[in-house]
Amino acid sequence: MALASAVSPDFSFDHLWLPFTPNRGFAAEPRVFTEADGMFFTTHDGRQVLDGISSLWCVGAGHNRKPIAEAITAQLHKLDYATAFQAASDVAYRAAERIAALAPGDLNRVLFTNSGSEAADTALKLALAYHRARGEPQRTVFIGREKAYHGVGFGGMSVGGIPGNRKAFSAALLPRVDHIAHIHDAERHAYIHHEQPAWQHDPLQELEQRILPLHDPANVAAVIVEPVAGSAGWYVPPRGYLQRLKEICHRHGILLIFDEVITGFGRLGHAFAAQHFDVTPDMITFAKCVTNGVIPLGGVVARDGVFDALLDAHAAAPPHAVEFAHGYTYSGHPVACAAAIATLDLFEHEGLFERADRMGRVLGDAMHGQLKGLPHVVGIRTYGLAGAVELAPGATPGKRAYEVFLDCFRHGVLVRPAGDNIVLCPPYVVEAGQIGQMVDVLAAAIRGVR
Ligand SMILES: Cc1ncc(COP(=O)(O)O)c(C=O)c1O
Repeated sequence: MALASAVSPDFSFDHLWLPFTPNRGFAAEPRVFTEADGMFFTTHDGRQVLDGISSLWCVGAGHNRKPIAEAITAQLHKLDYATAFQAASDVAYRAAERIAALAPGDLNRVLFTNSGSEAADTALKLALAYHRARGEPQRTVFIGREKAYHGVGFGGMSVGGIPGNRKAFSAALLPRVDHIAHIHDAERHAYIHHEQPAWQHDPLQELEQRILPLHDPANVAAVIVEPVAGSAGWYVPPRGYLQRLKEICHRHGILLIFDEVITGFGRLGHAFAAQHFDVTPDMITFAKCVTNGVIPLGGVVARDGVFDALLDAHAAAPPHAVEFAHGYTYSGHPVACAAAIATLDLFEHEGLFERADRMGRVLGDAMHGQLKGLPHVVGIRTYGLAGAVELAPGATPGKRAYEVFLDCFRHGVLVRPAGDNIVLCPPYVVEAGQIGQMVDVLAAAIRGVR
């Protein structure tokens, strides 16, 4: 089907299939970027658009950062690519060391992937391999959470909890998966301004009293959660929730995986949400922000004990036997690893995690100050350098938020619709005036939507 366009660009709309995007009407009102610098994009028709979402949580240091580009170019001239199987690159070792140094506790082993989806599936497979290596192969049940997003692989989709992402694939989801309840109480947690909400009842009682006895805790391999639920619309964990989750997992020998694809590398003002909430899981998955978005890279950081268990189990195996039959052709790609090191240097030299924390307060004040009380607004949740404003769903859930997103784009601001939420998560380098511009445009769009 040829897609009609209202403008006449110097490329065709007839071949590219856009991911997680309604392709039907796209060409009639396209959003196509040709350049980016700092906080702004230039579109194919010459407009400036403010990046209110760090290009899907990836570009913490802002666009077009020279030190990252230079590191990539230098790496390309030195070692462009090397196989990651049965060999390695020096730069992959260096990047792993940097990431391990930022990770909490004894999370010291980094297995690289190319994306967050691959990181989630890798962590789940590691959990199975770990238990098997330790003589508990029956531990094959995974527990995720409602409204969670762990990417689009079959593992991540199975433990994920966004119904729309699962429904077409339900026949092919992993069979031994259960989900704990979403962490949101629509009445009491509607307005959250930089503090964790309290719960009337214990949200983890269900895990302890229903889900674990149902499966038998000795059959459970891992629990995976996003410390702050990002993709569904920025839902903050209640006070003590993550500590208690860790305590329950620990008590039953279940691995705890934090999916930090969004919260990793500064969004909450710390390297990881694990440090922010002072809860150390057994594995952390990461991806976004690690290369400032410029080259795909993701991975899993695992506790020493996870790695050691796999090696110990193979102590008597022949020398050619691999301990974990998993990996990607581009795991630890040298150019991506060079980009990661340059990005982490930039975060450190410019104090960008601290800046994210500071600017998060400015964003929170602006969103609560200007959006509360507007038509359709039923909640505002701000935490770290991110915030969601929730609209009453209307007749068609998600439609209002999508229309607000389109209107914001027409007025030069990129926001993110997520169900009935609109999310702002700007780069850490954002200025107060730019936050003002984003929230002004968002407020006007909300006022205008029916
Ligand atoms: C928490 C979380 N996990 C996993 C993913 C999947 O990452 P990717 O799109 O790189 O596969 C995302 C993407 O938004 C995410 O937010």
